Amino acid sequence: MFKIKVRTDKKSYPVYLGQGIMESIGPVMSRCLPARPVLVVSDRNVAPHYAEKCLKSLQLGGFKPFLEVLEGGEEDKSLMAASGLYERLLKTGLDRHSAIVALGGGVIGDLAGFVAATYLRGVPYVQVPTTLLAMVDSSIGGKVAVNHPLGKNLIGAFYQPALVVGDVDALKTLPGRELNAGLAELVKYGIIRDKKLFEQLESLIQSVPPEDWLLKIDSRQLLKFIIRAVLIKGEIVYFDEKEKNLRRILNFGHTFGHALESATRYAYYLHGEAVACGMAMEARLAALQEILDRVSQQRIISLIKQLDLPRPPAGLSVNAVMKALSYDKKKEGEELIFVLPAGIGKVLMYKAPSSSLVEKVVEEYLRGDLF
Ligand code: NAD
Ligand code: GLY
Repeated sequence: MFKIKVRTDKKSYPVYLGQGIMESIGPVMSRCLPARPVLVVSDRNVAPHYAEKCLKSLQLGGFKPFLEVLEGGEEDKSLMAASGLYERLLKTGLDRHSAIVALGGGVIGDLAGFVAATYLRGVPYVQVPTTLLAMVDSSIGGKVAVNHPLGKNLIGAFYQPALVVGDVDALKTLPGRELNAGLAELVKYGIIRDKKLFEQLESLIQSVPPEDWLLKIDSRQLLKFIIRAVLIKGEIVYFDEKEKNLRRILNFGHTFGHALESATRYAYYLHGEAVACGMAMEARLAALQEILDRVSQQRIISLIKQLDLPRPPAGLSVNAVMKALSYDKKKEGEELIFVLPAGIGKVLMYKAPSSSLVEKVVEEYLRGDLF
């Protein structure tokens, strides 16, 4: 089992990563949290595989666990779902000496973390990520949120977990499409911060095409990538927990990615897929703005192309994507902000790129010319 410390100004917490470590959650948790009642929040796809293992282990660690299984999916990241959890916590009699365990992907982690941040003005919570995206991104760094009808993740807080336990064996039951969406987040870390990681992913993806990942990927290799990603994210969060400057680089691929998600009403792409398309588009924009050399642009786009992404949706217009972009919440005044690659392993913040170039990139993507 590997242990990585994530530090912020006010708090530091361990992230345990390994194979077959779900059984150890209770004993590991008892090192950081005194024994207490715990509400385990999970969803209907995850619970049948892992809830029993998790509950047993919590009992072994001296905790008194209760289980709440939600439907799951983005609709559950809502104030209504949060309210249902508050009710369950209150009715079960969980007080300030209790804790919450989020057993699932980013949806469960963001929701349960939000409830932990607000229930009785804050109780500790533990992230047990079961998707690749949650292991490398959402379980680390304390961004917790629910959606509002006017936008995603608009109601939330920065609230760090007490610990994170990521078991790569849980990825064996993850649908292939979800695994690829998480893989896109790994590629993101390579582009923004770690050329070597990018190159390792390049050679891995060439030797094992994404559709064969589930069968052929070596868990130890995957674990190494996850550790690398957590180290990178931990370092970024250490320098900038509240996203005032450095943490914004994690939004690479997100300006176009969010516009694609929003223009398709969150019903076409998985989040990681939209970010992957956004990364290819932002690499193209960087090249058009002469920030990125053409060879690096090609390498980035070719790697993303191999992620088995959905085709651009038929009927999606350039205007619809441009309109969605105009509502981007990262805007400063009227100016769009992009995180653009300046090479492989290096990005910069770029304000107000030429709108005709932005439009050209959207056109190229929608025509299928980009990849
Ligand atoms: P998710 O939580 O919806 O999980 C994806 C699907 O896989 C779900 O159907 C789930 O039930 C299923 N699943 C999860 N683990 C499984 C397993 N081991 N075996 C079988 N099925 C499994 O989606 P996600 O991609 O993990 O997370 C996306 C969410 O994360 C979005 O809401 C996004 O906004 C959020 N997010 C948050 C942050 C952050 O910093 N807090 C960062 C990135 C994304
Ligand atoms: N996923 C972006 C962040 O944690 O800042």
